[in-house]
Amino acid sequence: MNLKKDHKTMNTTTMELTVGELVSERPRRSRVFEDYGIDYCCGGKKLLAEACVKKGVAFDEVLRQLADSDAVQENTVDYNIMALDELVNHIVSTHHEYLSQELPRLENISEKVAKVHGGTDARLCKLAQVVQGLSAELQSHMMKEERVLFPIIRQLAHADTLPLMPCGALVNPIRAMEAEHDTASGSLESMRQLTDGYTPPEWACNTYRALLDRLHELELDLHQHIHKENNILFPKALELEASLPHH
Ligand SMILES: [Fe+2]
Ligand SMILES: [Fe+2]
Repeated sequence: MNLKKDHKTMNTTTMELTVGELVSERPRRSRVFEDYGIDYCCGGKKLLAEACVKKGVAFDEVLRQLADSDAVQENTVDYNIMALDELVNHIVSTHHEYLSQELPRLENISEKVAKVHGGTDARLCKLAQVVQGLSAELQSHMMKEERVLFPIIRQLAHADTLPLMPCGALVNPIRAMEAEHDTASGSLESMRQLTDGYTPPEWACNTYRALLDRLHELELDLHQHIHKENNILFPKALELEASLPHH
């Protein structure tokens, strides 16, 4: 394989595409962005070069990693070509379902770890608070998506003409959901900082280690979840709304 040529192809593409679009094109690329801490969900509207500058990582190095990642064959579902109501169903049945199950457990475990080890590391008490706040925010966020925004998107997906929408233009609820994604992203960043990037200290017990492992998993899942909404579902729903004729 001619790596130089690949690198060049990648280069041309990356000049024109945003970080979010790069991941939409090939979901596997999200692993490279996770490794460099480049935000592809809430910060997904940035061009790659901008995102690299913001994170202080070498553009060329990231390009090389992306080219390597692209060389791996993957067999994943293409969320870009999924019908909008199918994509909504997928998000609810995987990401929302996972969060509904996992968030109460994480609240319990983080509280337990804070009680036992908070004396040794006070950041664990703060961590439990952040987990609790994030859990409450996300549960109310998902309820709004499932009761307000997603039913409208499902309706649009089956409409021939623009339906009357209770919340006015679709951009209103979408902006509100994007703002809540930014808040959730901020909580993830705090959790990462409070746990030294989910690295357990030598003395950590199994519960503590399990907590960090599960919080890390939560971060990965939430990044994918927000990416699918911000960079695929929302822009496509807005496009569909704009394309439908009025009565
Ligand atoms: Fe969601
Ligand atoms: Fe959301």
